[in-house]
Amino acid sequence: MSKIQAIRGMNDILPTETPTWQYVEQVTQALVQSYGYREIRFPVLEQSQLFKRSIGEVTDIVEKEMYSFADRNGDELSLRPEGTAGCVRAAEQHGLLYNQQQRLWYRGPMFRHERPQKGRYRQFHQVGIESFGMAGPDIDAEIILISVALWRELGLSKNVRLEINNIGTAADRRAFGAALTAFLQQHEADLDEDSQRRLLSNPLRVLDSKVPATQALLVNAPSLVEYVSPETVAHYDQLKKLLRANDVDFVENPRLVRGLDYYNNMVFEWITDELGAQGTVCAGGRYDSLVSQLGGRGTPAVGLAFGMERLVLLLETIGQVPDSVNQVLDVYLLASDAAVADQVLKLAEELRARLPDVRLMSHCGGGKFNSQLKKAYNSGARVAVIVDTPPDTGEQTVRVRQLDEEGSSEAVTLQNLDAALLKALAQTSAPA
Ligand code: HAM
Repeated sequence: MSKIQAIRGMNDILPTETPTWQYVEQVTQALVQSYGYREIRFPVLEQSQLFKRSIGEVTDIVEKEMYSFADRNGDELSLRPEGTAGCVRAAEQHGLLYNQQQRLWYRGPMFRHERPQKGRYRQFHQVGIESFGMAGPDIDAEIILISVALWRELGLSKNVRLEINNIGTAADRRAFGAALTAFLQQHEADLDEDSQRRLLSNPLRVLDSKVPATQALLVNAPSLVEYVSPETVAHYDQLKKLLRANDVDFVENPRLVRGLDYYNNMVFEWITDELGAQGTVCAGGRYDSLVSQLGGRGTPAVGLAFGMERLVLLLETIGQVPDSVNQVLDVYLLASDAAVADQVLKLAEELRARLPDVRLMSHCGGGKFNSQLKKAYNSGARVAVIVDTPPDTGEQTVRVRQLDEEGSSEAVTLQNLDAALLKALAQTSAPA
């Protein structure tokens, strides 16, 4: 019988890879919590309507990429393609947005039926942060500063650049959309098929077209900058001032419109050149209309999401994963003789209770001493503790052995084991 394989674009993350994932997860969690953001968890499955109403009917995500199906009751459901919509739905449903400020974060799998390639998958993971109830540019700056801090913590500051844009209000974009449509209609025959279709339904998406002929046409198209209203410009200028005051470098990209419809005013992306075509490692912006669009009271909001796969890939590509991340075991405990094998489990439990920071694996499954020792070397532990047969007279001893090429060892009494073990661990080249 043929073996069943994983779904294309949905990755298994193997034990050799999870240490880097856990490292990025721990760093991001500690960081966002240090800014006072609180975790929210919401389902991976929601009513399809939620995403249609928030991300927009005429977007790649909703038109082509959602995993949607009718469940056994005939309800139209979709796997979440991103986190903002579900976060707003959950926060609103539980009254978290009523007359209050909220700083929330989440993490988890998202699903988009895109064409898989390096850095682009059908199940991928995001860490997202969303702030509600604050209308000024200071919270926009905070959101961006959190990403700056993450690059610093992960040693990626030199490998990413920030692009920002002001896309105005929804009304500004409608006025601009009308002007753009009028322009594009004059060149309709030269547009690619997708752009022709979007000409009337969502002309701004035409700006995103990757087709060279369409891009060439757009050089002479009206520009969004001419249509954005003065209050959004004032907000945006203030944000730029705050970014400069905090030494954050950025590039203004008037072409940056984002692939989701809920944004207004400020949008941004962090881009790296190290990952080829899928270079956006983090993206976000302000979305002041989404809460009311989903039935709540008007609530200003801003947020971002990091793409975990891309962060992990970037760290690996530029060799920025600290060695200590892959050191997942410290001690391997074994017996020199079957007669004392029973003591191993018990001693291991005692050591774990007394030295909770030491990661310790005890040998199971019997076997000759040499094969046990080989397993100790293969385990990745730095030190072995070997339980020896007690002498006829005298005290029970164990050996504390370095698991390096030399394999030097020291016999100690059980009473002195903890100190000897800690000393041996300190002597091994524990990577930073
Ligand atoms: P997004 O730009 O669609 O925005 O996705 C955010 C990040 O998720 C991207 O920059 C990328 O790193 C990662 N990502 C997206 N699609 C894939 C994929 N197919 N495979 C791997 N990684 C991917 C949002 O999702 C918004 N909800 C961000 C946001 C939060 N805006 C405000 N708050």
